[in-house]
Amino acid sequence: MAASLPNAAVRLSGSFHPMLQGGPCTLVILGGAGDLSHKKLLPALYNLTLDGALGPKFAIIGFSIEALDDEKYRQFARGGIEAFSRRELTEAGWSKFAPLLHFVPGSFTEAADYQKLKQRLAEIDSQFGTGANHVFYFAIPPQFIDQCSAGLTQAGLIGPADGNGGFARVVIEKPIGHDLASAAEINNQLARYFDESQIFRIDHYLGKETVENLMVLRFANTIFEPIWTSRFVDHVQITVAEQEGVGTRAAYYDKAGALRDMVQSHILQVLCMIAMEAPRSTHPDAVRDAKLDLLLSLRPFEPADVENAVVRGQYEQGLVNGEKAPAYRAEEHIPPDSNTETFVALKCYIENWRWAGVPFYLRTGKRMTKRASEIAIHFKNVPRILYNSRPAPPLPANVLSIRIQPDEGLSLNIVGKQPGSPLRLGPVKVDFHSATISPEAYETLLRDIVAGDQTLFMRRDTVEAAWRFVQNILDYWSVSGGEPFLYSAGSSGPTEAAVMIAHDDRAWRNL
Ligand code: BG6
Repeated sequence: MAASLPNAAVRLSGSFHPMLQGGPCTLVILGGAGDLSHKKLLPALYNLTLDGALGPKFAIIGFSIEALDDEKYRQFARGGIEAFSRRELTEAGWSKFAPLLHFVPGSFTEAADYQKLKQRLAEIDSQFGTGANHVFYFAIPPQFIDQCSAGLTQAGLIGPADGNGGFARVVIEKPIGHDLASAAEINNQLARYFDESQIFRIDHYLGKETVENLMVLRFANTIFEPIWTSRFVDHVQITVAEQEGVGTRAAYYDKAGALRDMVQSHILQVLCMIAMEAPRSTHPDAVRDAKLDLLLSLRPFEPADVENAVVRGQYEQGLVNGEKAPAYRAEEHIPPDSNTETFVALKCYIENWRWAGVPFYLRTGKRMTKRASEIAIHFKNVPRILYNSRPAPPLPANVLSIRIQPDEGLSLNIVGKQPGSPLRLGPVKVDFHSATISPEAYETLLRDIVAGDQTLFMRRDTVEAAWRFVQNILDYWSVSGGEPFLYSAGSSGPTEAAVMIAHDDRAWRNL
């Protein structure tokens, strides 16, 4: 059985919160000539412009050290769009987008450069009618957050000193800290300059259509919530597998590892969406309160739990798609004795009435068999009577799997009668594939930032609650971590991860 969900049913975002309209605004990208801007932000802004999602009064300024002018910045943006945009660059599209782009060369440490920025902003505000509304996107390394916040504030671009009635918002990228203490320090720095209502902390997983749709799926349908409990659910698996290795981000990644890079942020956010209680409304803070509750309900890891229920791995050489891939320790800029984990699998519990006793298995890794992110809800078996009576082997349990990427959609494994007689039962898969090409996560997130909707952005308390949860594991590893288990590049992770789940008489889903 296979069916394709009509577009309207899949594309649920957009009606999520009623105030989603791009207001008049100038977006200033600090680090505007960097990689993130080139690959993600400028292509996303191009697509949003084509969609008319940013409103007629919108302009962009890149601000960073490179010696560019408006024209050169436009060429930089064009290159990024040609290589990375969801939609192809067309001359008609470009002629709409290019005039929005401007560049102010400047150093994050020079007060005079913030003054230059201020002056140019005032000119652009009056030219584009952006009403002195400003979004400052920090596409910068975290060590500059304090300096840039101070620079903007001293130039009178943030807060009451602004005095001209517009809004000022700031956008912060991950990583937000390296551990609980450093995350709290970044949040303290931000709090010195901005009110929490001005801060948009990005976790790009929350901008993915399928992640945003989890809430809609759960709370806009009647059929899921009644069975979304320990009474019917045996366990849940969340997998985020990547084929890519560490790529060009060795310096960052070797200090982070999979637990910080993927679990603390993306996977815990997905866990919130799939397991939280129904928020009291769709108001951004109601949704974020529900997530916070879920994070606070996670059972903290004791040292013995880390020993038994957390597996860390590191890839060694292998074949990925038939091509030789080097070991992590042989990658460029990775120390040959690095113990950083490129894979982590763990079992956790949510201590509330809904989920008491239901294990949640989370796993993520680089250089795995294939790229696949999915959530699988494994339901309990039917009783051993009737069609499921002994001595026949047990019938397979129902599994609802929600594919985040690629091949977005969902499938439900059920048991059905095989055609003909005698009566034979067999597995049947009901499969829905999303028929649309979804907007990129950054399109959704930028649209919401401009519209002032914080629903998909992490509040300070949720970021810190997520750190608090992983901190016990980090602390344990720092003292008794030892070496990670090795797995071949192109495999589904170390065998110890399979052993961990097999210990509970369960198995990971095939990738
Ligand atoms: C980033 C991580 O946040 O997410 C990367 O730092 C990871 O290591 C990436 O590769 C995965 O994002 P996506 O959208 O490709 O699944």
